Amino acid sequence: MVTLKSQERFRTDKGVFDAHTNKTLFDLQKKGIFDKLDIPLPVGKESNVFIALKDGKRLIVKIYRMQNCDFNKMFDYIRKDPRYEFMKKHKRQIILAWTQREYKNLMRAEKTKIKTPKAIAWKNHIVIEEYIGDENPAPPLKDKYPEDPEKFFKTTVNQIKKLYKSGLIHGDLSSFNILNFNDEPYFIDYSQATLTRTPNSMELLERDIGNVCHFFRKLGINANYEETLKKVVGKK
Ligand SMILES: Nc1ncnc2c1ncn2[C@@H]1O[C@H](COP(=O)(O)OP(=O)(O)O)[C@@H](O)[C@H]1O
Ligand SMILES: [Mg+2]
Repeated sequence: MVTLKSQERFRTDKGVFDAHTNKTLFDLQKKGIFDKLDIPLPVGKESNVFIALKDGKRLIVKIYRMQNCDFNKMFDYIRKDPRYEFMKKHKRQIILAWTQREYKNLMRAEKTKIKTPKAIAWKNHIVIEEYIGDENPAPPLKDKYPEDPEKFFKTTVNQIKKLYKSGLIHGDLSSFNILNFNDEPYFIDYSQATLTRTPNSMELLERDIGNVCHFFRKLGINANYEETLKKVVGKK
């Protein structure tokens, strides 16, 4: 249950627990998706993320902050996605589609067998997914540099390639959205991921690869942008 006490503990997460959110969390609990929210993680760009418990096991609950989402930007992004080209510009509908899209993208990513959290459920503006970590959540790459950057970079590029071959581009890949768990890259946050057949998808792929190469060059890796792009889109 999201009890009053637990809500008080999360008071710092301003405005997350409005009536609509409470009702959605309650519905998810009633369906048995999770038992209770446990620990809030550092506030993200557009969402509040919590560790939740289900039969003592950890899960991730990601709640989009409807109050301060940039709907114009979201609408712009999502209507380019062929899956959502008939979207109308209604706030609730946009958020709903955004959340559903993240869930669908996660499922799609999972099928490629890359390292990524499993999608568990979604409702309204809330996505539930597998927790990546041990007693502590896996830190983002920006906070924990890999011990073997060469290998980490290679795996990252391979994962981008696997996604691309399956028709998906992450679209917001950076050291914020790659977790470093046991020196292996786990991709998270597919809210901007799109299909390769989306008109602007190459731009997103190029940006992802640019970000990744830039980061690893700082770690002393010979991460050449052109070569990496070729490797990702190449036949082999
Ligand atoms: N599956 C997960 N396992 C562990 N930590 C996670 C997971 N998903 C998100 N987090 C943590 O929550 C933060 C915000 O999540 P993210 O999906 O990137 O949201 P936002 O869209 O707000 O950036 C991440 O930087 C990461 O630290
Ligand atoms: Mg993020």
